[in-house]
Amino acid sequence: MIPLTVAQVARITGGELHGDPAVMITGEVVIDSRRAVPGGLFAAVAGERADGHDFASAAVAAGAVAVLATRPVPVPSALAPSILVGDVPAALAALARFVVDSLPAVTVAGITGSSGKTTAKDLAAQLIERLGPTIAPAGSFNNEFGHPLTVLRADSSTRYLVLELSARGPGHIAYLCGIAPPRYGAVLNVGHAHAGEFGGLDQVARAKGELVEALPAGGAAILNADDPRVLAMAARTAARVVTFGVAPHAPASSHALQPTVQAADVRLDDLGRPTFILLTPEGRATVTLRLHGAHIVPDALAAAALARELGLGPADIAAGLSAATARSRWRMEVHRRGDGVTIINDAYNANPESVRAAVAALCHLAGDGRAFAVLGHMAELGGISRASHEDVGEFAARAGLAGLIAVGEEAAPILAGARRVRSWTGEALAVPDAAAALEALANRLKPGDVVLVKASRVAHLEGVAMALLAGEEADR
Ligand SMILES: Nc1ncnc2c1ncn2[C@@H]1O[C@H](COP(=O)(O)OP(=O)(O)O)[C@@H](O)[C@H]1O
Ligand SMILES: [Mg+2]
Repeated sequence: MIPLTVAQVARITGGELHGDPAVMITGEVVIDSRRAVPGGLFAAVAGERADGHDFASAAVAAGAVAVLATRPVPVPSALAPSILVGDVPAALAALARFVVDSLPAVTVAGITGSSGKTTAKDLAAQLIERLGPTIAPAGSFNNEFGHPLTVLRADSSTRYLVLELSARGPGHIAYLCGIAPPRYGAVLNVGHAHAGEFGGLDQVARAKGELVEALPAGGAAILNADDPRVLAMAARTAARVVTFGVAPHAPASSHALQPTVQAADVRLDDLGRPTFILLTPEGRATVTLRLHGAHIVPDALAAAALARELGLGPADIAAGLSAATARSRWRMEVHRRGDGVTIINDAYNANPESVRAAVAALCHLAGDGRAFAVLGHMAELGGISRASHEDVGEFAARAGLAGLIAVGEEAAPILAGARRVRSWTGEALAVPDAAAALEALANRLKPGDVVLVKASRVAHLEGVAMALLAGEEADR
C-alpha cells in the first residue's frame, strides 16, 4: 500500500481515531490476522465463523501497527492505534478508492462473467506482467472484501491492476467498479452461476453489463462475440468495443463482423490442452495452453484481447499464454496416476455450464477409455436447481460416461436426468458422501480410466480428488 498515517486513514474512512495520529501504515492491509505483516493495517471483520475483533491482538503481535474495527478492540492504543468505523467493507472501499486516485499511472482492468473469471484473470495477469508491475488477486478475491484488499496492495511502482469482479445480485459489480474504476473491462459469458439469486439469465446479463457501463469513452469493452447476451452489452458502453471469439464464427457475410481477436483451428492434445492459432489485427501466432479443456479457449482470448489493448503484440501474447500456468487451485487440475488412471480435480465450484464443459473435457481425455464423473451439488440455482441437475445428468449420459456418481441428496436429480437417456449403458450410483464415493471408485477403477470430480464449493469434493491422488507425485 502507499504509506498513509492513521490520521489520514481515519479521515478517508470517516473513522474515529484512538491513538497517535502520526503512526504510519506502510504494510499490507489484511483481514486475516495470520497474514498480518510488520507495518500493516489489520481490519477486523465479523464473519460467520469468527469475529476478527478477537484476533486484533494476534495481528498486532505479528506486526500490524493499526487496527480498523467497528468497536473497541483489546489492544492498547499506545501499542497500535485503532480507527473505529460504522462499516469495515465500506471503509476498505473508501481507502482503496483513495489509493487508486493517488496512483494515476495505474491502469485498471476488470474481468467478469459467470464462469472462468479466475482462469481469465490468472491468464491476463501472466500476460500483463510482461508489460509492467501488475497486481492481481490471488484465487477468487473478487467480493466486497477481497476486491478492496487487492486494490490496496497497489503502490507507486504498480502499473496495472487486473481485477476479477463477481456479482450475486444487481449493483454488486457497479459497486466494485466504484472502488477501482476500470478503463478496460472484459465479459466472458452469461450463465447460470448464482442464477437463483438473480432470477434468470437476462438479469445476470444486466448485472454483468454493469462492468461495461462503468468504462470511460477512452477505454475498451472486451466482449465475447460467441455469447449473444455478452455481445449485446456493446450498446451499454461509452467505451470502444473489442470482440473475441472462436472461429469459425457464425456465418460472417462481411469481414467487419469477425471478432477482433480469434482462435482458429482449435485442437486438443490427449490431456485436453488446447492448441490454436491466435488471429489479431496485428498478426497471428500459435498458442499451446498448459490448461485443460476447450472451454478455456475463450478465457485465453479475453486475456489476449485485454493484453493487446495494453500494447502487447501477438508473438508476446502467444508466448505468454503458452507459458501460463494455473495459479488458482482445483480448477481442471489433471493428474495422471502411476497406475494409468487420470484424475481431473475441478472441485472448486460448479454451475450447469462449467459442469458441461468439464464433462466434455473428461470425455476427450478418456478417448476410447472409460470416463467416470463424481458430481456433487451445484449450489445457488434457486428455482431451476432440480431441472438444472437433471439436465446435467442427461448431458453426462449422452456423453457416454461409464459411470456417474452423484454425491449427496441434492445431487441425486443428476441420476434422474441420466436415466432419461434410454440408450445409456453406464452405471448410475447415488452415494451419501465423499467417503462412499471413494469406496465406489476403489472397486471400479482400472488403468486408462479417467475420473472427473466436480461440485460447488459447499460440497467440498476436492477431498475426493485429493484422496484419489494420495501418494502420487504431482505431475503438473
Ligand atoms: N468459459 C468457460 N465456460 C464454462 N466453464 C468454464 C469456462 N472457463 C472456466 N470454466 C470452468 O468454470 C469453473 C470455475 O472456473 P473459474 O476460473 O474459477 O471461474 P469463476 O472465477 O468465474 O468462478 C471451472 O470448473 C472451470 O473449468
Ligand atoms: Mg473466481
